[in-house]
Amino acid sequence: MDLDIKELGQFASGIVSEAGLLLLKLRNDSLDFEEKKNHADLVTVVDSAVERFLVDKIVERYPSHGIVGEEGVFETNVSHFDTQWIIDPIDGTTNFIHNFPYYGISVGIVHKGIGVIGVVYNPSMNELYFAEKDHGAYVNGEKLSLDKPMLFKEALVSSTMFWEDTRKKDAIHPSLLHIYKTTRGLRLVGGAAISLCEIAKGTLSAYVAPMLSAWDYAGGVIVLKEAGGVITRLDGTSVSFKESGSILAAHPSIHQELLSIYTD
Ligand code: IPD
Ligand code: CA
Ligand code: CA
Ligand code: CA
Repeated sequence: MDLDIKELGQFASGIVSEAGLLLLKLRNDSLDFEEKKNHADLVTVVDSAVERFLVDKIVERYPSHGIVGEEGVFETNVSHFDTQWIIDPIDGTTNFIHNFPYYGISVGIVHKGIGVIGVVYNPSMNELYFAEKDHGAYVNGEKLSLDKPMLFKEALVSSTMFWEDTRKKDAIHPSLLHIYKTTRGLRLVGGAAISLCEIAKGTLSAYVAPMLSAWDYAGGVIVLKEAGGVITRLDGTSVSFKESGSILAAHPSIHQELLSIYTD
C-alpha cells in the first residue's frame, strides 16, 4: 500500500507536540541525570520517557515502520524497513538540563532513502518546525523561505567548536578561527537540530559540525532543505540518513564559500 505522506506528516507533528507537553511536565519533576561516556555527555529520565512515548504511538499507528532513536528504546535494524523514523527525543540534553532554551525533540521520517517529513519542536520557545518534502517548511504554520540573498561577512555561524576528542587533545579546528574572523561571529548553540531550524528561520546563517549521528540532524536537515538551505558533509558530499558524519549546513548564498574553507 502506498504511503500517505500528508497523513504521516499530520500524525508526526501531532505526536511530537504531545511529546513536547510531556517533556515540559516531566521537567517540573526532579531532573536527575547520569553521565554516559563522560562528564559532558548527559542523559535524563526525560530523554527515554519522550522516546518511549513516541515509539509507542508510532508502533500503534504504523506497525510496519522501522524506528531508531538515540536512547535505543526500540531495537530494530532500521535498514530493513522502507519507512524509517529517526528520533532524537531531546537534542541538546545539556541545554535542557541547564534550561538554556536551545534544545528540542527531533523526528525525521525517511521513505526509501529520501527524507519526507521533518518535525522539530523547541518547547522553551513553543516553536514547532514542520516540513514535508516538496511542500515547504513552516514554523508554527508560518512558511520559511531563505530567498533573500546574503553575504558571507553577514553570517552568524553555529558550531560545536571542538573537534572530536578535543576534550582530550585540546585542538581547535583552524577553520573555525577563519570563520570567526570573516563573519559576524560564531555561536556555540549546543543543539544540532535547533541550529538547523534556526538557519531555516533566518536567525542563524550556517552550522558546522565534525561528527553527528543521523538522529541529531535528520529532522533538522529535512526542515532546512525545504526552507531552501543547502546541506552537505564537510567534504561537499551529500548527507545520508544511514550513517553518522559531519554536517555543513547554510543559507544558499554562503554554502559554497563556507565549504571552500574546508575543501580548498
Ligand atoms: C548533541 C547535540 C550537540 C552536538 C553533539 C550531540 P544530544 O546531541 O546535538 O549540539 O554537539 O554532538 O550529540 O546528545 O544532546 O542529543
Ligand atoms: Ca545524547
Ligand atoms: Ca542529539
Ligand atoms: Ca539526544
